[in-house]
Amino acid sequence: MEEIKKKIEELKKEKNAIIVAHNYARPEVQNIADFTGDSLELSRKASETNAEMILFCGVHFMAETASIISPEAKVLLPDLNAGCSLAESITAEDLVNWKRQHPNAVVISYINTTAEVKAESDHCCTSSNAVKVVEAIPKDKEILFLPDKFLGAYVQEMTGRKIHIWKGSCHVHEKITETDFEDMKRENPDAVFLIHPESSCTQNCVKKATQHNDDSIRFFSTSGMINYVNNSNENKFVVATEVGILHRLKKDNPGKMFIPIKENAVCEYMKLTTLEKIYYALLYEQYEVKVKKNIADRARKAIENMISIG
Ligand code: 13P
Ligand code: SF4
Repeated sequence: MEEIKKKIEELKKEKNAIIVAHNYARPEVQNIADFTGDSLELSRKASETNAEMILFCGVHFMAETASIISPEAKVLLPDLNAGCSLAESITAEDLVNWKRQHPNAVVISYINTTAEVKAESDHCCTSSNAVKVVEAIPKDKEILFLPDKFLGAYVQEMTGRKIHIWKGSCHVHEKITETDFEDMKRENPDAVFLIHPESSCTQNCVKKATQHNDDSIRFFSTSGMINYVNNSNENKFVVATEVGILHRLKKDNPGKMFIPIKENAVCEYMKLTTLEKIYYALLYEQYEVKVKKNIADRARKAIENMISIG
């Protein structure tokens, strides 16, 4: 392990590369990354770097987003099989057809979409700013929100806006059900519950939190969870998202207790990136993810619209 880490460091310097990792990446991958974060932070990082090469330890749509934002950099994804079930739940063709049925609507796409879908969208959003992005759209405008139905329902609830929601979902977060939440709540009445809004228990949790004025149930993006815990005096947390995030939570807060709401909430795509694949990716400069200019130029506008909102 030490040997491969040393080789990665050497190649990184030689190639003027940075390594960025999503909060769900394997622990050893997060540890060697220059930067770890949620989807919004990773997009921002890609827009700020001067590196010639960005090695992305995440999934394909994230590497595409980096390529859209930094077209002059060489963006590498160590394993091209690192896809995303949520991004695959809508195609650009699906979106074009949906837009035809609502010609005056504003299209808001979650960052977990392909570059082609972003190119057909007015705004992007992530789990950390979806509410803000919807609130920035004039009240009289119809909104198409895609592709996550659980996040869409959450945004609808939080903004009080009636929006059209695509019926997509993430296969990992969909498995985090109301029953999981109820069972864990019963067993851990003293814990704070951190809920990622892609989870299928989200609507029920929002109802519980608002009806009972229960501030032990909170909704965050992955980095939102990390920031909240780092600044909290509470000591026990039940975490409703992909389990990879527990690494950083525990590392930053060794005295606190973290319980995954579901042990098998594992994104197999995020785990495809290993130290060995990172080494080969840097050595052979593989696998480059490059978005065609005409698509990238249109998709960039949707991402910039999001970044300008927050
Ligand atoms: P965030 O890290 O932006 O909360 O997204 C979660 C996710 O599922 C990324 O694929
Ligand atoms: Fe996609 Fe779900 Fe994996 Fe996130 S956890 S990358 S949404 S499949």
